[in-house]
Amino acid sequence: MTHEHSIDHNARIRRVCVNGHGLPILFLLLLMTGCGGGDQTTDMTAEREAAEAQARRATERLVGTLMGEVQQSIRADGLAGAVSHCATRAQELSHIVGEEEGVKIRRVTGKTRNPLDAPDNYEKIILSRFEAMTASGELNPTTVHSEVMETDGRRVLRFLKPIVIRKNCLGCHGGADDIPEDVKAQLREYYPSDQATGYREGELRGAVSVLVPLQSDE
Ligand code: HEC
Repeated sequence: MTHEHSIDHNARIRRVCVNGHGLPILFLLLLMTGCGGGDQTTDMTAEREAAEAQARRATERLVGTLMGEVQQSIRADGLAGAVSHCATRAQELSHIVGEEEGVKIRRVTGKTRNPLDAPDNYEKIILSRFEAMTASGELNPTTVHSEVMETDGRRVLRFLKPIVIRKNCLGCHGGADDIPEDVKAQLREYYPSDQATGYREGELRGAVSVLVPLQSDE
């Protein structure tokens, strides 16, 4: 295929995608195999952008809802009371948001409070990248990682957004002096192998990790 040909193809596929006619899947697959790796190409822009928007929506919903609920729980029952709210709601809410938004979503970290939040190998790599960016000052509120790839024979978009420690996190994730005694007691009870303390403001706490299924080749 000559260079001109592939450009021509790309233009056609973009039109097809935008118009919403026909099935550009075969073309996309041909182009993907020709483009190597999961990196973005202009041909995949429409599909990828839609998946990314889906991932962002789910992320905002999870983070926003959880934060809102924790704030409310702190006001109603104090910090220690909010620990038990978090303990029951964080996983449940991730599940609900995932179901409703058509994605898999969870929070991951290298220093877990809940062992269910341990990262897989891919997430580990991205977390260490975020860690390096934090150290070099490159990480900012708009930083995300987003990549189209194959896992278990299925095409997916993997999307990760960093979670950074702020002042109001310290009562439950800070050093020994930041965490009130009753909160410490609650944490010991719910999370006997808690590793998620000793943080300072501005440190990377982890990431929201989203997996969006894309069209596969059958
Ligand atoms: C009221 C106490 C409390 C506050 C305040 C709090 N957290 Fe947590 N955090 C928890 C608990 C409890 C868990 C474990 C939830 C679970 O079981 O899934 C947790 C888990 C997490 C996780 C998931 C990873 C893991 O270790 O399991 C992240 C990420 C996180 N918190 C970030 C934050 C950030 C960022 C803030 C501030 C904006 C914050 N937390 C404020 C109690 C708190």
